[in-house]
Amino acid sequence: MHLLQPGPAVDDHALEELYAYPAALTRPFVQVNFVASADGAATVAGRSRGLSSAADKKVFALGRDLADVVLVGAGTAIVEGYRGIKRTELRASRRARLGLSEVPPIAVVTGRGSVDPASPLITDTLAPPIVVTCETAPVDWRKAVATAGADVVVAGADRVDVGLTLDALADRGLLRVCSEGGPTLFADLVAAGLVDQLCLTVAPLLTGAGAPRVVLGEAAAAPMGLSLASVLSDEGFLMLRYRRAADSGTE
Ligand SMILES: NC(=O)c1ccc[n+]([C@@H]2O[C@H](COP(=O)([O-])OP(=O)(O)OC[C@H]3O[C@@H](n4cnc5c(N)ncnc54)[C@H](OP(=O)(O)O)[C@@H]3O)[C@@H](O)[C@H]2O)c1
Repeated sequence: MHLLQPGPAVDDHALEELYAYPAALTRPFVQVNFVASADGAATVAGRSRGLSSAADKKVFALGRDLADVVLVGAGTAIVEGYRGIKRTELRASRRARLGLSEVPPIAVVTGRGSVDPASPLITDTLAPPIVVTCETAPVDWRKAVATAGADVVVAGADRVDVGLTLDALADRGLLRVCSEGGPTLFADLVAAGLVDQLCLTVAPLLTGAGAPRVVLGEAAAAPMGLSLASVLSDEGFLMLRYRRAADSGTE
């Protein structure tokens, strides 16, 4: 056991190196981003905004900058008012330097087809969105989102299979996967053993009972080991980066 001492400030370049995806990927590498209060809440008044900070937002934006695709559940996309990822000068120059497309597409997961084809997520976007759904989703809705510009992927019978989802993203050359949640989708990724890196911000807040935690749904068969890869702190917020432990499956 040892005490973590405050170290030097981390600039944008060092941050980028710290959070870089592994080089020469041959399979999808899944990073998951979450912010939680010190007592484990994933929301304040139903949104994640009340838990975040400038430093957390920076790490969150970096997740988008370094990814081939942003993966999100429909619940989060709807509640948080998602639209296509915006081009900023920093994002465009960083991504050009790294040989990435101008902005990553968003891949949204919905079993019931709850994403409105007219929503900004589908229509207000530079990169065509990917809508991942299952065979039980209404056929008319599938046609409508495809007509509105989405790349529709059917990955599962009555529920989206996250493994098949990653296969479909890999088929499109999208291996650097940044999942922004939410808790239901994260539970499926954990249960399937498909999380390679967790970027978890712990906010210095006690929010009390009532809010969900960062996973919601079916329990995983067994806990998956993680190793602590980096710790950043800013104004009492902890930005923790965990990697899948070497003895926990692939990698
Ligand atoms: N603290 C944080 O960092 C953070 C991050 C993200 C979200 N959140 C919060 O979490 C809340 C949303 O939670 P949530 O659990 O609803 O989020 P979610 O996982 O984003 O969305 C759940 C919905 O996504 C679809 N979905 C996810 N996995 C699926 C699968 N395997 N198969 C089929 N459909 C699947 C379903 O949509 P259909 O119903 O359309 O089938 C499901 O109802 C919001 O309050 C948001 O603010 C917090």
